[in-house]
Amino acid sequence: MAELELRAIEKSYGEHAVVNRVSLNIHDGEFLTLVGPSGCGKSTLLRIIAGLEAQDSGEVRMGGNCVDDERPKERDIAMVFQTYALYPHLTVFDNIALPLRARRLNFVERLPLLGYAFPRRRRLEQAIRTEVQEAAAMLDLAHLLHRKPGQLSGGQRQRVALGRAMVRHPAVFLMDEPLSNLDAKLRVQMRTEITALHRRLGVTFVYVTHDQSEAMTMSDRIAVMLGGELLQVAPPEVLYRDPQDLRVAEMIGSPKINVVSCTSWIALGGGLPAGMHEKATQIAFRPEDPKIAAPSHGAVRGVVASIENLGSDIFLNVTLANDAGSIVIRTRPDAPRFEPSRSVGLSVDPARLMQFDSLGRRLNGIERAAA
Ligand SMILES: Nc1ncnc2c1ncn2[C@@H]1O[C@H](COP(=O)(O)OP(=O)(O)OP(=O)(O)O)[C@@H](O)[C@H]1O
Ligand SMILES: [Mg+2]
Repeated sequence: MAELELRAIEKSYGEHAVVNRVSLNIHDGEFLTLVGPSGCGKSTLLRIIAGLEAQDSGEVRMGGNCVDDERPKERDIAMVFQTYALYPHLTVFDNIALPLRARRLNFVERLPLLGYAFPRRRRLEQAIRTEVQEAAAMLDLAHLLHRKPGQLSGGQRQRVALGRAMVRHPAVFLMDEPLSNLDAKLRVQMRTEITALHRRLGVTFVYVTHDQSEAMTMSDRIAVMLGGELLQVAPPEVLYRDPQDLRVAEMIGSPKINVVSCTSWIALGGGLPAGMHEKATQIAFRPEDPKIAAPSHGAVRGVVASIENLGSDIFLNVTLANDAGSIVIRTRPDAPRFEPSRSVGLSVDPARLMQFDSLGRRLNGIERAAA
């Protein structure tokens, strides 16, 4: 069992609180992603789980047991970093075999030539070879085992780092921005590979990224972190459709969610949610939610400021009337074309409008009912 439980974890560096009472239950076999902007404490939290950093207070539990007194090596965890941290002078094979040799061979047996004089070493090497080859086959590295890291592409190096983590058969994989050194195309390909690996191994993955699209495509659940706090933990589609905090709403989804002040929206004649909350100061809606019509038919008037055509989607940047700000609208290539400077009318299904109070807290149906 590798359920991972964080209980009220706190960590400060000097005066600076970096992790602020974070509690989180990560299920056995789950792919959980910590997402948030640079400096929000993601790596610190991951290092605390790994035991590389000690928290000031709170508890880390694995499989129901507190592991705070266990050193990193004793925790049933493997970590993959942004920098591959491979040994440049060792071959791919030896890099992957490293944790196995470190664990199974004693000091003398590990000696390069002399070690082989011991029959036990030869036996163990055979087993290690089989395990390295299995991992390499799974990661499509079998043909590269004799190479040194310097002779590999970035994606191949990252796969070696994954292989080295895999052979330890940890109950939990921790990954800290493992794809951020790769180019865009490879990053997308490696996302699929890592999720496939997760499915095949069936163990718990805790994955850190500041890239919301990575988080959205890979995770069972996403934990959104900001300034050391967890704002919301939920499956990707729930974070997208039902964010409980304006900062979550703004962090998840690309292009960003549209936010308009309630007074502007009302002045523009935009429809209001059925139960408009009295504390609502801002409304928000996703770029795909507005419907565009001729200016006279739409409730809200705006002017197309610019157009971004991505082939599969077309994004219209629309400046709202009355200086109410600008919004982005996603349209399909088969939808009617709009030119810049064109006046448009738009409407949003009131059920799609989210309301937030002045502190950015979501005002939901339950609070509406109570109000
Ligand atoms: N050893 C340290 N001493 C002092 N401050 C630190 C230390 N390690 C991290 N910090 C600070 O703690 C905060 C959180 O750092 P952390 O590395 O956890 O952020 P992060 O979310 O992983 O960011 P990034 O996305 O840039 O990797 C930052 O402000 C950082 O400067
Ligand atoms: Mg980091």
